[in-house]
Formats: sequence, C-alpha cells, structure tokens
Amino acid sequence: MNLLEPGDKVIVCRNGVFGDRMRENVERCGATAVVVDDEWGKPVDPEKVEEALKANPDASVLAFVHAETSTGALSDAKTLAELARKHDCLTIVDTVTSLGGVPLLVDEWQLDAVYSGSQKCLSCVPGLSPVTFSEKAVERIRNRKSKVQSWFLDQSLVLGYWSGEGKRSYHHTAPVNALYALHESLVLLHNEGLENAWQRHRDAHELLKAGLEKLGLSFVVDEAYRLPQLNAVYIPDGVDDASVRSRLLNDYNLEIGAGLGALAGKAWRIG
Ligand SMILES: Cc1ncc(COP(=O)(O)O)c(C=O)c1O
Repeated sequence: MNLLEPGDKVIVCRNGVFGDRMRENVERCGATAVVVDDEWGKPVDPEKVEEALKANPDASVLAFVHAETSTGALSDAKTLAELARKHDCLTIVDTVTSLGGVPLLVDEWQLDAVYSGSQKCLSCVPGLSPVTFSEKAVERIRNRKSKVQSWFLDQSLVLGYWSGEGKRSYHHTAPVNALYALHESLVLLHNEGLENAWQRHRDAHELLKAGLEKLGLSFVVDEAYRLPQLNAVYIPDGVDDASVRSRLLNDYNLEIGAGLGALAGKAWRIG
C-alpha cells in the first residue's frame, strides 16, 4: 500500500498462497503485477526473477515471501534483494513465518519494506504486524504523488507518530494490550537468544522428522530449503485428512494445519 501507486509495476514471486496474496494487494493498489511462478513446495527461483527484472526495466518493486507458510519452503531473501538492487527495485518482503524461526538479517541483506506477524514464531497473540522500512523505502513513501489508498496502513501518517515534528501525533488508537503481549514475547526471545531460538526450531524439526519418517510420511519440501518451523507432509493414500486432524485435536490436544490451495487435502502442515 505504501510503496505502490497506481500504474506502478511490481515483480511478484508466487510459490504458494501468500505470494498470491501479494499479487492481489498489488492489483488492489492499481499497480501491475508481473507474476513469477514457481511450483508449490519450491523456493522462489532467482534465475526466473532476474529474467523478469531484465524483461521489465520499468518495474519499481520486487515482492516475495521469505517463508511460504502454505508449503514450508524458504526462499533466499539475500540473493533476491541483491537482484532487486541491481535492477533499481525496492523489495517488499513477507516475513510472517520467518521472524524468530530462521535467520532474517534485514539490515545485512538490505531489505526495504518488511512485514511480519506476532502470532507465528514470536509465539504471541495475533493482531499485530511488526514492520520495518529502509531509508530508501521511507524516501519513496515521502515522495509519493498520491495519498496511500488506506488511511489505516498509511505509514506517512504513522511516521508522524514515530518521528514527526513534535512526535507522537495521533493516527490511531494503539492496541496497547496486544503491544504489551508483543513486548513480553520479545523479552522472552531476547532472554532465550535469537540464535538459540533458531536452533530450538531446528532441533524440534529434527525430532519431528525422525518420528514422521518412522511412520512412513514424506515431506513436501526438499531438505535444502525446508522451514524447520513449518513442516508440510503428504497425507498417505487412503487416510482421511479431516478425521486425522480432528482426532489429533480431540484426543491428543494437538492442532495441525490442513493443506492450503494446491495442497488442500494432499498435505498436513505442522508448526
Ligand atoms: C506468509 C504469510 N503471510 C501473510 C499471512 C497473513 O497473516 P494474517 O493471517 O495475520 O493476516 C500469513 C498468515 O498465515 C502468512 O503465513
């Protein structure tokens, strides 16, 4: 909403549900999405992205999902951001499922507009979306010709709260209860140590993998780019998807996710 104006062109990477959500939002902004598709379960292919950037020199943004929750695939945000810079594009990066679970080096990788969620690896209540903007992204927001289409998401107004003249000018009523919860989740993460949290997810993944493979279940995503925090496994032939999930929930108090989109009815997703 903030980096795009009507008529802008955006390269959108789509390898699952949430890449398509980005495409949807690009179009809702009145911008044009050039979609780079990858198979579900695979990471975004940097070669295809580079081809799209070359073929569309007028594109101003590259948008991609770092950790695709619908499949469990991790994309190489560092390489994608390098390509974007080489072709004068800013990056918009969905890190909803990566923040706190796997390395996400926003400054080192020079990502521009990055959004996450409180409810995934931060283990917090839902309802907040931590965001961060590079200087270049802030500059683009400040130099917009048109107003941001949404009052609620307008960061130029929120910037007035964060760092405007006089500071803390009113934009919206802050959801303070949720902010206290987020603060506490960040204190817990800080106490644990970010690297330890990444390791905890890897350790839990290894244990889960060993158990699932013993049961004969196979993973949707290859090990090289599999998210430890989001384990998608194929549902074995002849097994009823919904009844297994409801039995796990009702008898064992374990909730696992159904497959989404192309993987609906074909996979389970285990956090
Ligand atoms: C990668 C990704 N992006 C975006 C979203 C949307 O987040 P929310 O449901 O909080 O709107 C999700 C939610 O699961 C997600 O996993």
